[in-house]
Amino acid sequence: MTQTQVSQVDPQDELRAIYVAHYRFQYLSAAFEFGLFSVLAEAPGLTRAEIAGRLGLEEQPARILLLGLTAFGLVRKDGDRYSNSAITEPLASNTDQVPAAFIPYHQHITYRSMGWFHESLKKNTNVGLHREFGDDATTLYARLATDPGLERAFHNAMGGFSQKVSDELAATLDLSSYAHVLDVGGGTAVNATKLARRWPHLRVTILDLPTVAEEANARSASAGLGDRVRAIGLDAFGDEFPEGDYDCVLFAHFLEIWSVDRIRAVVGKAARAAGPNAGMFVVTPFQDDAETGPQHAAELSAYFHAVASGEGMVYTPKEYESWMSEAGFRPAGRAYVNNLVDHIVISGVKSGDAGRTAS
Ligand SMILES: C[S@@+](CC[C@H](N)C(=O)[O-])C[C@H]1O[C@@H](n2cnc3c(N)ncnc32)[C@H](O)[C@@H]1O
Repeated sequence: MTQTQVSQVDPQDELRAIYVAHYRFQYLSAAFEFGLFSVLAEAPGLTRAEIAGRLGLEEQPARILLLGLTAFGLVRKDGDRYSNSAITEPLASNTDQVPAAFIPYHQHITYRSMGWFHESLKKNTNVGLHREFGDDATTLYARLATDPGLERAFHNAMGGFSQKVSDELAATLDLSSYAHVLDVGGGTAVNATKLARRWPHLRVTILDLPTVAEEANARSASAGLGDRVRAIGLDAFGDEFPEGDYDCVLFAHFLEIWSVDRIRAVVGKAARAAGPNAGMFVVTPFQDDAETGPQHAAELSAYFHAVASGEGMVYTPKEYESWMSEAGFRPAGRAYVNNLVDHIVISGVKSGDAGRTAS
């Protein structure tokens, strides 16, 4: 057998791994919800009976759980004693931060709703959101506002993810020549507080939905940045942007949620709100210009379409540059941010000004 043959995955095995993937995730998610990985980190080498006792499980469910976790490589069994595997060790602590926070996020937000993917493609809308979370809201974000538990699951994952990306962002974005950033869809101020710390002269105004803006203001106040980072609650599409001396616009993980028409409208609105020679930074996952991947772009596109908004997807850098140009911003460079998954920063400068770029 040649080297290539050894490393090749049997297509039938690969197919099977796909159609049973939900079992693997459910074992992981159930064990996480029981707190098993934290228990095993604290007391490695527990027996099945000891684990059942700690988790409050009867014997047969404990046996099933541990069989699956062992079979899928999520815990190790040595003799009759169990401990975390390398895969699950990172899930034992900091359970409201990534990577652990991704588990309740996928379990409670994307798992069942993605089961409506086929219907969502056929109907060209987010059937998953409506079937799993009701018809009260047209986007997941508006729905979250009425459910504190879901909102926490979402923002723990998104905020934790942003913590990682924002470290690289703070190092990547050159904001030295800007004084006031308009951070559209800025979330709970994770990016804004990092950027404000990195650039001590900088002010940031976050625009986000009212419940999120409230949390952003609380975070900024507790970080001692209340005088420079403030959030305003509004609907970025339905409401006017508040007037201000903005000389830079940031769209971080926001535009990809929406349709091309909405993106063009909101980029145009931001362009009108920003002063002459303003900068623009779009931070986003991207699909390559050849439209072949990466996989992360495909995952997120399915999620936006079937759940989050029913209208967005992960676009190409070329498309963003064309929307910027249309709004009067000259594209001024691309920088790659690869901390967790592939992201890009696309920068632009309001026409007439040269020389401000992402890196
Ligand atoms: C994926 S999160 C990105 C948060 C942040 N910019 C970051 O990079 O971590 C998208 C944000 O858009 C906000 N959002 C959704 N719809 C909105 C709307 N109509 N107006 C303003 N913000 C909105 C959500 O509340 C959420 O905070």
